[in-house]
Amino acid sequence: MQVSMDLTQFLQQLDELTANAVSTFEAAPDQEALEQARIEFLGAKKGQLKATQKLFGAVGKEDRPTAGQRFNETKQAIEAALEQAQQRLQAGNDSGSQENQQFDPTLPGEALQLGHLHPITQTIEELKDIMGRLGFSVADGPEIEDVWHNFEALNIPAAHPARDPIDNFYLGVAAAGTAKKSNELLLRSQTSTVQIRVMENTEPPIRIISLGRVYRPDTADATHYPMFHQMEGLLVDHQVTMADLKSVLRLFASSYLGEDVHIRFRPSFFPFTEPSVEVDYLWNDQWIEFGGAGMVDPNVLTAVGYDPSQVNGFAFGLGVERLCMRRHGITDIREFYKNDIRFLHQF
Ligand code: DAH
Repeated sequence: MQVSMDLTQFLQQLDELTANAVSTFEAAPDQEALEQARIEFLGAKKGQLKATQKLFGAVGKEDRPTAGQRFNETKQAIEAALEQAQQRLQAGNDSGSQENQQFDPTLPGEALQLGHLHPITQTIEELKDIMGRLGFSVADGPEIEDVWHNFEALNIPAAHPARDPIDNFYLGVAAAGTAKKSNELLLRSQTSTVQIRVMENTEPPIRIISLGRVYRPDTADATHYPMFHQMEGLLVDHQVTMADLKSVLRLFASSYLGEDVHIRFRPSFFPFTEPSVEVDYLWNDQWIEFGGAGMVDPNVLTAVGYDPSQVNGFAFGLGVERLCMRRHGITDIREFYKNDIRFLHQF
């Protein structure tokens, strides 16, 4: 059956066909897709162009010259678009193959640089872990402290040299060396402050450690730094003895430094303990001092409202940097705080 068709309709079909073909060729991602598209539009038997050509006969005789000319233009436009798409894919392939030649899959990959915890933070985590296994939980206190918690409650009287403005970072008026009141503020010089804070708020039995920064206006050298870290320990219960203290510190030292660590107590003095000792560990044939310890002074127990005839306890304070330095053979404390990635990278 012959369907008649006017020229406008035929030309419209040609325009649509061109637009479709061009956009399909442009979108073809690879040679295979482009070949599919070529068959769809320019295929000799079932291609869309061929199908449109069949409509040619339905156009009125007088319009055939125009229709024929436009049909030829359409065919050329579609073929040109195909050609262009082929060139595009070819160019992409060329640069791709260049890359392929340069890519050597046997080369080792580039290792991703991952950050990690600072050695002191790692040490703190490990100390918490060891002491946690010995039944000590972690307590915390502020770094900006008052004179009561840093000195007075710890049995350090107003005239004690440890309270000298020269040896402390007082904040405000006390920095000028005027009389110090209980509520005046300073950067804490020891973590023993946390003992007081815990006892003020808790009934015995107590078994805590506290790890954190302390501040003293020391000139930095290989073994001093104006800010460093301490691990404070406090145990309060009934009938606690020096033997308990020594056992805990020995177990701690074996865990952190190695099995064959020996421990030694040397008589010493701290206002907040009685008796007081310096704690030395024998390590690699050397006695090394790691901190102080002792039985909590009854005055301290009284200051926090405990009855020293009912409860007693022990306390200790160890230097965290010192422990970490011994363990890793680090000889200069300043290394920790230079932010030199070559040093930090090793831990
Ligand atoms: N607070 C002391 C210091 O900074 C260390 C210390 C000694 C802490 C004896 C204690 C202790 O808890 O019992 O030098």
